[in-house]
Amino acid sequence: MSKKVIVGITGSSATILGVRALEELKKAGAETHLIITKAGKDILEDETDYKVKDVEKLATKVYKIDDLFAPISSGSFKTDGMLIAPCSMKTLAGIASGYTDNLLLRAADVVLKERRKLILLTREMPLSYIHIKNMKTVTTAGAVVIPPVLTFYSKPKTIEDMVKHVVGKALDHLGIDTGYKRWN
Ligand SMILES: Cc1cc2nc3c(=O)[nH]c(=O)nc-3n(C[C@H](O)[C@H](O)[C@H](O)COP(=O)(O)O)c2cc1C
Repeated sequence: MSKKVIVGITGSSATILGVRALEELKKAGAETHLIITKAGKDILEDETDYKVKDVEKLATKVYKIDDLFAPISSGSFKTDGMLIAPCSMKTLAGIASGYTDNLLLRAADVVLKERRKLILLTREMPLSYIHIKNMKTVTTAGAVVIPPVLTFYSKPKTIEDMVKHVVGKALDHLGIDTGYKRWN
């Protein structure tokens, strides 16, 4: 059975993680529901060679950030979970506090309340006490926090290798095997 996954891209550096995740999900035949925040769109076009419209073409369905009537804002729309890649500290704070004032935050809140998988590729450095506290809160609520940190046991040769490794680890949590290099 093909997977149904909500993907969020927010305004943090490393927006390429969201693009690669969408590509891998497409390869795996997953149905994807995409929301990109305003800051996410700006940063995506600033730090990569991708245009938002091309990234949106990778998804099965695309939603506007303020479309609170979208099916993904309800628990009765069943999914296998949600990946936010990358996840800004602002969006992390919104999830941790249950302050669901846009569709991405509402979708994440729904995934948590329905006890589905919420995977957050939180990206900031260094981390303040507030960031760490929010990561603890969402982890206690059931989310999986995967900061995109450097990994060397996979013997990466390029930045692309590093990106694929992080995306592979994240998608593992949704039961999708991208064939990334594992430790053995
Ligand atoms: C170029 C650029 C890079 C940024 N990188 C980060 C980052 O790595 N992590 C983060 O938490 N915020 C980062 N920010 C700040 C967020 O974009 C900002 O807090 C924004 O309100 C996040 O909104 P969103 O979560 O709705 O996308 C960055 C902003 C800019 C302009």
